Amino acid sequence: MRKNIVAGNWKMNNDLSQTERLITDLKKQSKTSNAEVMIAPSFTNLWHAFEATRLDDIEVVAQNMHFAENGAYTGEVNASMLKSIGVKTVILGHSERRAYFNETDESLAKKVDAALAHDMRIIFCFGEELADRKAGNEETIVGSQIKNALFHLEASAFKNIVLAYEPVWAIGTGETASPEQAQDMHAFIRQTLQTKYGNDVADAMTILYGGSVKPANAKEIFSKPDVDGGLIGGAALKAEDFYAIVNAF
Ligand code: PGA
Repeated sequence: MRKNIVAGNWKMNNDLSQTERLITDLKKQSKTSNAEVMIAPSFTNLWHAFEATRLDDIEVVAQNMHFAENGAYTGEVNASMLKSIGVKTVILGHSERRAYFNETDESLAKKVDAALAHDMRIIFCFGEELADRKAGNEETIVGSQIKNALFHLEASAFKNIVLAYEPVWAIGTGETASPEQAQDMHAFIRQTLQTKYGNDVADAMTILYGGSVKPANAKEIFSKPDVDGGLIGGAALKAEDFYAIVNAF
């Protein structure tokens, strides 16, 4: 059985007191689904969030990390630093990192290797832009994003990887991929894994959908057989909405 995961990507939102408040609200919600729940606050609030959720069924994850072990990389945070405060999972390759911070398949492959070397779990994000979809190139783009950053790995590495398909045109726009579009792409992603690594890796892979998931559309998207959860931006900033999505399974 694949794991279901609902992860809240807080992006550059919430200072310390807002983080405290949102976590207090999240802890008041009740979970009726079997989905694993994750939240990704900013670096400055990870330690607080980790401490505040220690006894709860909420995993605190990072939004990014650098690939180097240490050294002269002003402003960056590495895997050891994250692990030293209890963070075991990192989001890599979010389209905002690719678009605004020049992350490429090549730099992401290095980050993937560094995270795995530290035994961290990765939520690896990718997705096509609107122009790619309009041109009918979405599978080519997504296939190459996955291959370029991940296909140098051994099959055993994939137990520490979760994939997140996030069409760029659906992120923060209010426009969601239809459940059928999500299902079609997720099936393609699973097929791509199957071709390279075989059935065991493909069947076990948790594939999240991200892009304007909200309480009103989560149930239908999550009902699709190859959609195993969601990476949630805007709707993760309100505890009731986030748990309505968690409980949509
Ligand atoms: P959104 O963001 O839910 O606000 O569209 C999703 C994401 O960027 O992970």
